[in-house]
Amino acid sequence: MEKRGWMIVAIILCLIIDSSGRELKVKAKHTHQHHHHIATYNHTLARILVEYASAVYMSDLTELFTWTCSRCDHLTKGFEIIDLIIDVKRCLQAFVGVAKDLNAIVIAFRGTQESSIQNWVEDLYWKQLDIDYPGVDNAMVHHGFYSAYYNTTLRPGVLNAVKEAMDSYGKINIIVTGHSMGGAMAGFCGLDLSLALGKQNVQVMTFGQPRIGNAAFASYYSQVVPNTIRVTNGHDIVPHLPPYYHYFRQKTYHHFPREVWLYNIGLGSLIYTVEKVCDNSGEDPKCSRSVAGNSISDHLTYYGVEMRCETSGTCKIIMDPRISAFVRKDLDGNLVLSRDLSAPNLKLITELDDLGSAL
Ligand SMILES: *[C@@H]1O[C@H](CO)[C@@H](O)[C@H](O)[C@H]1NC(C)=O
Ligand SMILES: *[C@@H]1O[C@H](CO)[C@@H](O)[C@H](O)[C@H]1NC(C)=O
Repeated sequence: MEKRGWMIVAIILCLIIDSSGRELKVKAKHTHQHHHHIATYNHTLARILVEYASAVYMSDLTELFTWTCSRCDHLTKGFEIIDLIIDVKRCLQAFVGVAKDLNAIVIAFRGTQESSIQNWVEDLYWKQLDIDYPGVDNAMVHHGFYSAYYNTTLRPGVLNAVKEAMDSYGKINIIVTGHSMGGAMAGFCGLDLSLALGKQNVQVMTFGQPRIGNAAFASYYSQVVPNTIRVTNGHDIVPHLPPYYHYFRQKTYHHFPREVWLYNIGLGSLIYTVEKVCDNSGEDPKCSRSVAGNSISDHLTYYGVEMRCETSGTCKIIMDPRISAFVRKDLDGNLVLSRDLSAPNLKLITELDDLGSAL
């Protein structure tokens, strides 16, 4: 209760002091600096990436690794996994691979595997900005999201796979995606890769992600990863969390740009979806913020694609013994399934069958 009391006092103080309502710094910079590459929304690409962000939820590692899972079809057909990375203790999962049709490395992070999405969402209300983002003045982020990427087996796993892909394919583009908390991790990963490889090579598209940092962080982020699209859907509650207060905008959480808000208009059988490309502030009041974000079901379907595990509940890992030849396990029990890039998918599947019959 005491914390809340102080929060209210702080808000009132800010209302008095911060009446000038400064804009996000990056906006002013854009007007008088050389032209940045601004993210353009590409519907076709979004439809493809949402399928990657959905597939990473699958828990059968054999099917994911061989790209034969039920969601590993349709627009993502032919994808070649390089590494599948699993943080067993924290129940995190990501993959890195090459999509030849996109001429890009695609990296996808899985969202939360908590047994109750309701509990997870309720927790989001109280997430504090509790760690400084290193090296950037005043930039703060949420420790949990930050460390899920920076302080787990995911970061070294992803960086290693990206390096392998670049050794084989040269400097091709990198696209990072994820849904929900996976979107939060995709943001940090995009930032990390952009700093290492240059912003012209890195693109981020997330679906239904929560806020991850404050205005100073969002401003920095949008300069380093300008090619970012943050898709929100209807009344999805998660992009509204942790809360943002426009009268308190320098101190609370603040989304980075650019939002694309999907919403339905029409009546009865005449409903269609509008894809609204929002302004460059990160917090466009005419986009998802214009509605009361209170829907969990809008969080779980994007572009008609299911964005959660097939079986809710516990963190389950399903792995065929045939695949063990490709598994590296670290001291903490984390897994990396790693593939020789010179061998195409089909070869891998036959190899697995051979291994299977040998067992
Ligand atoms: C949108 O993305 C698709 C898939 O990558 C690509 O084929 C198409 O050329 C892109 N469209 C534009 C206008 O860039
Ligand atoms: C990273 O993880 C280690 C061990 O789990 C922990 O001791 C350390 O405080 C963490 N650091 C950050 C920045 O989260």
